[in-house]
Amino acid sequence: MRRNIVAGNWKMNLNHPDSSRLINEINKIDVNSDVELIVAPPSVYLSTFNEIQHHFSLSAQNVHFEENGAFTGEVSAEMLSSLNVNYAIIGHSERRSMFHETDDIIFKKVKSLLKHDVSPIFCCGELQQEREEGRAFDVVSKQLNHLLTHLKEDQIRNIIIAYEPVWAIGTGLTASPEDAQNMHKHIRDSIANQFSLKTAENISILYGGSCKPDNAKDIFSQEDIDGGLIGGASLDSKSFLSIANSFS
Ligand code: 13P
Repeated sequence: MRRNIVAGNWKMNLNHPDSSRLINEINKIDVNSDVELIVAPPSVYLSTFNEIQHHFSLSAQNVHFEENGAFTGEVSAEMLSSLNVNYAIIGHSERRSMFHETDDIIFKKVKSLLKHDVSPIFCCGELQQEREEGRAFDVVSKQLNHLLTHLKEDQIRNIIIAYEPVWAIGTGLTASPEDAQNMHKHIRDSIANQFSLKTAENISILYGGSCKPDNAKDIFSQEDIDGGLIGGASLDSKSFLSIANSFS
């Protein structure tokens, strides 16, 4: 179901006391009821956060595609599901570049998550050079290809897509609202062409990349932008709240 979403990707930040402080602050946040708040803390905190009464949804930052077994250090989709974790971020550019995750690996993760009723937050986005060379749309289309060609219509409906231009992540640079809108429209049109307009209209597509309180309103006002996947600004409850209240 398409809805407004603001998701905080904490990445590998905050020790236990600091994470508890932030989650308690977020838990007090009063957000418009038609915005879904998602928090993606480091996986060691998922179980503790799940035990407190909360009005946000929980997301993992990663998952392994295998069911179980000798994969030291990894976490499976079934484990997330058994903790009532509703989402998992996958395909983030940091995992693509630093942990060598390919489109094939990422798609295996999609399938494992869907099998266990955990919704993937599927990240895609181009490098600066790819944008400068006019290849941004092709790059994102290629990253989406497995989803579009191998998933069934009822499966794609359970996916959230996050467009994160790599050059905007953690840099303070943001895609202009128009450039972001153009890419979001491209993504939605691709889903409509492969499946149906109805399905495309029902998918939330988030923007990520230096989204902050001072630019969120302009970005979220675009027709095909349904919210944000927030990195740095999600580590401060006031910024996170302000972004979450930036829908007009
Ligand atoms: P920043 O908001 O820090 O640019 O990070 C975006 C991001 O990578 C969210 O997944």
